[in-house]
Amino acid sequence: MSPRRTTGSKAEPATPRPDPEHRAQHGARDWGAGHGYPARMSDDERPLAVVTGASSGIGFELARQFAGNGFDLLLNSEDERLAGAADRLRPAAPEADIRTVRADLRTYDGVEQLYAETAAAGRPVSAAALNAGVGRGGPFLENDLADEAEVIDLNISSTVHLAKRLLRGMAARGEGRLLITSSIASTMPGPHQAVYNASKSFLQSFTEALADELRDTGVTVTSVMPGPTDTDFFRRAGMEDTRIGRGPKDDPAQVAEQAFAALMKGKPKAVTGSARTKVQEAANGVLPDSVKAAAHRLMARPGSGTTGPDRG
Ligand SMILES: NC(=O)c1ccc[n+]([C@@H]2O[C@H](COP(=O)([O-])OP(=O)(O)OC[C@H]3O[C@@H](n4cnc5c(N)ncnc54)[C@H](OP(=O)(O)O)[C@@H]3O)[C@@H](O)[C@H]2O)c1
Repeated sequence: MSPRRTTGSKAEPATPRPDPEHRAQHGARDWGAGHGYPARMSDDERPLAVVTGASSGIGFELARQFAGNGFDLLLNSEDERLAGAADRLRPAAPEADIRTVRADLRTYDGVEQLYAETAAAGRPVSAAALNAGVGRGGPFLENDLADEAEVIDLNISSTVHLAKRLLRGMAARGEGRLLITSSIASTMPGPHQAVYNASKSFLQSFTEALADELRDTGVTVTSVMPGPTDTDFFRRAGMEDTRIGRGPKDDPAQVAEQAFAALMKGKPKAVTGSARTKVQEAANGVLPDSVKAAAHRLMARPGSGTTGPDRG
């Protein structure tokens, strides 16, 4: 709904690639052995990764993982701060060719624009992290339909759309790695965040289904399931006054490191972050949905972070 379209900026020129000794000094790892990664990591044949939602938070840290492990990058987000994010990545991985594509993935045309610029790179996409996502806190009856439709457009529609485009190419080549950012929110109903949790339940089911469908193709599909993480997410979702918004958070760098490792190993899913998050995800596997819904309501109710929990 209310589609906005941002003009894509074209890629920066490729940076020169230093010698292997330089790469070793900067910590690039060879994932070819022991991780099942199919692409060669030589200087003349670097794999290309696409990361959406790369301007901040988990996506930025995922991009850092790719850059530090021998990938060239095509980074996407909507806002102009994407260029600054790319600039912050380059010093740690000067050998990486890091390009940016600004596009609003809430729109069909924005997704097509990103895919077209990916294809225009003229190189196979070895890995993609479909990570862009937003939330919307608050009571369903009071929230604007347009805001919640945008959650669906970005979290669900753009992910299905990009997966369709990218996976066909990967499957045709018999290699590729797709990461989809789900959430432990996928494992519980989300009162006061109803559309967001449902969008992540969709992604979790979708990702696990694709992982199974593609099991004999050489392509792997991995879902990453972070818990509450210290990013812009809760501010943007209007949830800074909630208990969950004010509660403890995981480090996005830790989340991304664990997600990248799971992706390289071809795992179907990875619960990332702290032990606290892993325990919560495990508990969600056995708790009744009604109990999880009530607990979520107390954590996500507007004002709960300032007035304490009630029965709201
Ligand atoms: N933080 C958490 O607690 C948490 C927990 C579980 C899962 N997740 C998931 O992690 C993913 C990343 O979120 P985050 O926590 O890292 O939050 P974040 O810091 O707010 O990052 C969101 C990213 O999505 C991009 N984005 C937003 N709207 C977009 C659009 N219309 N088109 C293209 N890109 C867009 C943003 O870029 P611009 O605004 O610069 O365009 C930004 O790069 C999301 O899928 C989120 O659901 C987060």
